[in-house]
Amino acid sequence: MEIIICSDASGVGELAAAKLARVVRDATSAPVLGVATGSSPLRAYLALARLVAAGKIDLSQAYAFALDEYVGLPAGHPESYAEVIRTTVTEPLGLDPARVRCPDGFATDLEAAGPAYEAAIKAAGGVDVQLLGVGANGHIGFNEPTSSLSSRTRIKTLATRTRLDNQRFFAHLDEVPNHCLTQGLGTIMDARHVVLVAQGESKARAIRGLVEGPVTAMCPGSVLQLHPHATIIIDEQAARQLTLADYYRDTYAKKPSWQRFDQ
Ligand code: GLP
Repeated sequence: MEIIICSDASGVGELAAAKLARVVRDATSAPVLGVATGSSPLRAYLALARLVAAGKIDLSQAYAFALDEYVGLPAGHPESYAEVIRTTVTEPLGLDPARVRCPDGFATDLEAAGPAYEAAIKAAGGVDVQLLGVGANGHIGFNEPTSSLSSRTRIKTLATRTRLDNQRFFAHLDEVPNHCLTQGLGTIMDARHVVLVAQGESKARAIRGLVEGPVTAMCPGSVLQLHPHATIIIDEQAARQLTLADYYRDTYAKKPSWQRFDQ
């Protein structure tokens, strides 16, 4: 696990975009991006859009797969993740909408929607790089505490903490769905590279558990400790509870140039 501590949130976005751009440039066929909703990755998408606009990367042939979708919202709801991905990812990055998919939380057969999504990811060749945020309770995607570490895309019940955190996007708590369809932890672990971003003190506890805690279903993001190419990019506030923060800073400062992706 590589931990990079940036001085501020915009540095996190720039560096995450640089890492994604490196994977895209290295891809030998159409790159496959794993994309996330939430506020954490927004700066990375803006930085990536700037790279596209400057002609530094080409995403016109890229595929993108979202992590999750609410269950219970009407199709086209502005807070559905299909809509959020369209406005924050597909359009700004100039992706082909036909190559962007979200789990189908509107499906009549929700049980079949999970395996269908897994098959679509596989058919595209698997995810080259998965961008992730983290919930305050350590969830990634919508894999709440006690999710199986080897789970696949399936329906989940949202934790009260998550519904309260996401209430800000809705008029009332009652409007926040209780269920979702989310890639499993096993699905996320199949991505060839994983980049997790977090900013602010509200994420400090989750980051401590994810980076330095035991690998446990009580902190689902901790499964990333088992990933061979996981990069955790955080700001100073999110790093506040890390015991080895100085070691991570020192490691990054001494990183050989051939290993760097920020240049
Ligand atoms: C949401 C999403 C996650 C996201 C997390 C944190 O519920 N399902 O993918 O990482 O919660 O959101 P934010 O980045 O807004 O704090």
